[in-house]
Amino acid sequence: MKMRRHKVFLLCTVGLCVISFLHYYKALHYVSLLRELSAPYPNIKSFIMVSGFFWREKEHPKAHLGREHIAVFLDNHQWDPLRSMGDLHTRTHRLQDDKTSYFVSTKAGALCFKQGTEMASQKDYSVKTKTRARSGGKRLVKCVCRPGWHGPYCGVPTMVYHSNLPTKERLTPRETPRRVINAINVNHEFDLLHARFHELHQAVDLFLICESNFTAYGEKRPLSFLRLLLNGTYNYIRHKILYVFLDHFPDGGRQDGWIADDYLRTFLTRNGMSRVVGLRPDDVFVINDADEIPAHEGLLFLKLFDGWTEPFAIHMRKSLYGFFWKQFGSLEVISGCTVGMLRNVYDGDGIKLRRREYYTMPGFRKYENDTGHILVQWSVGSPFHYAGWHCSWCFTPEGIYFKLVSAQNGDFPRWGDYEDKRDLDYIRNLIKTGGWFDGSMQEYPPADSKEHMYAPKYMIENHERYSYLLENPYLDPKK
Ligand SMILES: *[C@@H]1O[C@H](CO)[C@@H](O)[C@H](O)[C@H]1NC(C)=O
Ligand SMILES: *[C@@H]1O[C@H](CO)[C@@H](O)[C@H](O)[C@H]1NC(C)=O
Ligand SMILES: *[C@@H]1O[C@H](CO)[C@@H](O)[C@H](O)[C@H]1NC(C)=O
Repeated sequence: MKMRRHKVFLLCTVGLCVISFLHYYKALHYVSLLRELSAPYPNIKSFIMVSGFFWREKEHPKAHLGREHIAVFLDNHQWDPLRSMGDLHTRTHRLQDDKTSYFVSTKAGALCFKQGTEMASQKDYSVKTKTRARSGGKRLVKCVCRPGWHGPYCGVPTMVYHSNLPTKERLTPRETPRRVINAINVNHEFDLLHARFHELHQAVDLFLICESNFTAYGEKRPLSFLRLLLNGTYNYIRHKILYVFLDHFPDGGRQDGWIADDYLRTFLTRNGMSRVVGLRPDDVFVINDADEIPAHEGLLFLKLFDGWTEPFAIHMRKSLYGFFWKQFGSLEVISGCTVGMLRNVYDGDGIKLRRREYYTMPGFRKYENDTGHILVQWSVGSPFHYAGWHCSWCFTPEGIYFKLVSAQNGDFPRWGDYEDKRDLDYIRNLIKTGGWFDGSMQEYPPADSKEHMYAPKYMIENHERYSYLLENPYLDPKK
């Protein structure tokens, strides 16, 4: 009788194990399935580049639509971009050490990250400690963390604390911060660019911003970012921007759109990094698409701590047309590594970093051996604790229209070829309903504009200016 009970219990336990394993497996499968389902978006995205408006105008009789709204994307006939550019695209940038004091030493002898530490109670602690010290008690050396910060130094943000970083127990503050370099290619994502600069101005030491006068299709394209850079639009961050100008088109790029797409990242990294003076192997390189914005806490952590492994990915909150159409899961993209790894493993090429095959690359074992570190890829954030935002097709209807008509002729179907898909009312309706150009509808989880990580802070703080991305502009709020 007793034996039988034992057996029944054992069987039940095994059964439970199998069931929970199946659940886990299903969940994993579900996540990858979702990723596949959402794949058309990134694919299409990569293929769509801004092209010369005037060239397209001949092809599309309706191209004048919304023209007054997108004047900013257009070239100015009076303006000679190459002359205005001067030596902007060949200048070098010398990296300086960041002298900001990010940590504070408490009287009790603890080293605490200022931003993550409850300073008021810190005083209480010192007082208490003193009394205890006087009375011969043990010294209490501890930082009291603010909500959202963890670890003995209160310098580990929740997005790292809840990540899969395997070395969480071995994180130590650096004496000298690493310098962080953030590289992107830009088309006409000018509002997202403001959000990036404001989000990351403290964590990032240098932005490499690459613009080409060719589209991915090989046609002429106006240097719209350069124009804004020169007219003072980005003066608040100007000292941290290195302008990279791609003035040619890669061989074979017209036949295979992917070549042109990859080459943008290769050129951005090679040309940009070759003009940075004073780089150290432990500085950090982060490459993003213009619609991927890392949260500042994650990059600041990488800047201030030793002990994390590389390369690292970033889990980003996914949304379409704005932050209001939130999508399931997260977009996880390998986005960064140290400058040493970029050079020795990735051959100084940012596109290789975004692929996942670093362990088969020729320099990998040697680099691992030389540094004495076991290199394990990890991801800042998780599908539940976002470490950034991926906002795809986040433009006004006119911006989406511009993206459509200037798309390259490589990925089919090319929605810009269909007159009804270019219609501004049709585009407005897509934004309203969250629909896609192929007529399909996705399922969206509910999004609450009050939720943590809804949108970059700068946009939330300037709600009026960015309201078209923060709330669905075509929904009646009373409904
Ligand atoms: C881009 O700039 C380069 C360098 O000035 C020039 O040779 C090339 O013709 C330009 N391309 C287009 C499409 O205007
Ligand atoms: C720069 O140019 C853009 C587009 O023409 C314009 O909207 C903006 O106000 C200008 N900024 C400054 C500071 O002049
Ligand atoms: C690893 O490093 C050791 C010395 O540190 C060296 O003897 C060995 O050849 C290296 N192995 C590889 C694969 O580079």
